[in-house]
Amino acid sequence: PAAVIVAIDGPSGTGKSSTSKAVAAQLGLNYLDTGAQYRAITWWMVNNGIDIADAAAIAAVAEKPEIISGTDPSGPTITVDGTDVAGPIRTQEVTSKVSAVSAVPEVRTRITELQRSIARGAAGGIVVEGRDIGTTVLPDADLKIFLTASPEARAARRSGELKGTDVNATREALIKRDAADSGRKTSPLAKAGDAVEVDTTELTLQQVIECVVTLVEEKR
Ligand code: C5P
Repeated sequence: PAAVIVAIDGPSGTGKSSTSKAVAAQLGLNYLDTGAQYRAITWWMVNNGIDIADAAAIAAVAEKPEIISGTDPSGPTITVDGTDVAGPIRTQEVTSKVSAVSAVPEVRTRITELQRSIARGAAGGIVVEGRDIGTTVLPDADLKIFLTASPEARAARRSGELKGTDVNATREALIKRDAADSGRKTSPLAKAGDAVEVDTTELTLQQVIECVVTLVEEKR
């Protein structure tokens, strides 16, 4: 089958990562988690003492860290200047700061170029998940999916992942991050005009995966 490029966007807690990874694995495609790249550059900023409230300071060093993403869906990897950051990018500190860093235009330009070059070089095709993949990064993708779910369902899923955390606190943090991601000036979280919207509130992960696999197969 021909190489296929699939863009999967949506807010947090909609099952984007689990779905994207499973679809890529099932169809023999590469996989790219673009949120992990924004988390990685945020981790570097924090580690280097850059003031997250200072957009000019962030912009000035946006090109500095070398970020490398491995695209095997059964074991995606991410390194910054050679250091494995898969664990450290999931901390609450990085999660609370990533929206501010990813709103800086120089950061987006830099990371978007990286994403396009990975997608171009992905033999056999790729599933790319994020917030602005269908609208900005890969507007010519063969298939665009926009995943949604009720705030309650999203908070419940996130709390399930982060054991021992309070559902209400998770829900507030998640709503705040989505508002920041949707409200920023440069390539906000948005559904592309030609994206297929899938509301996952009442669906199991397996059902969402099957739905997306079917949509990809129709395009091949
Ligand atoms: O998907 P994940 O929750 O890991 O994304 C972390 C953050 O990275 C998002 O909240 C958003 O601020 C940013 N992001 C983005 N554009 C993307 C993917 C993620 O701005 N394509």
